Amino acid sequence: MLIEKFVLTPFQQNTRIVACEATRRAICIDPGERSDGLVDFVNARGLTLQSIALTHGHLDHVGGTTALSKEFPEAEIILHKDDEDLYYGLPQQPLLMGMSPNQLEALGFAYEAPPTLTRNWEHGESYEVGELRFSVRHCPGHTRGHVVLAEESQKKVFVGDCLFEGSIGRTDLPGGNYEQLIESISSNILSLGDDFVVYSGHGRETTVGSERVNNPFLNGGYQIGRGSFI
Ligand SMILES: [Fe+2]
Repeated sequence: MLIEKFVLTPFQQNTRIVACEATRRAICIDPGERSDGLVDFVNARGLTLQSIALTHGHLDHVGGTTALSKEFPEAEIILHKDDEDLYYGLPQQPLLMGMSPNQLEALGFAYEAPPTLTRNWEHGESYEVGELRFSVRHCPGHTRGHVVLAEESQKKVFVGDCLFEGSIGRTDLPGGNYEQLIESISSNILSLGDDFVVYSGHGRETTVGSERVNNPFLNGGYQIGRGSFI
């Protein structure tokens, strides 16, 4: 299993190319912005990009979809239906974050309407990439339509913005829900097992076991309502 990380956007988002080494089939998980490095990597390694696999619809995860899709028009574009409003609303997302319309070009957040999705993720589906097999798990809470992709034989899970080393995703943006996110993490990520490596949308890799023990949002160290660490 080949995993290459590209840290993109001012949000330092982890865009990844994940490939089956035996078949050279690959996916791009969350292209954050247009990147020649991404395109060059796929071509230089002789990979076939079969899909742009989106964990959720936030701009720092989907902002490079248009450019990558133009380079690899055969690649499917897949997102959960509950994040379609975010995805198709990409040009408006920076405004909702408080940026002013006349700043967008200079800041690199002037988006055109993204290409039409090929299809939606379904919770529980098995998604094959060559000899790799990802189980697709709907994990609402950061956004309504967030999914994580778990390759169970390789014990690796790509969690987008659900879970980070020592933290969890924001729940204060539209569609966010703290209780739902904790439930999603518990049911669909922690349940995988302590030896799974966690690939987050920002920051370093971690493991399920390390987060179960050390993450204050998961080990009882932080209590919602009190709004403080205890
Ligand atoms: Fe996000």
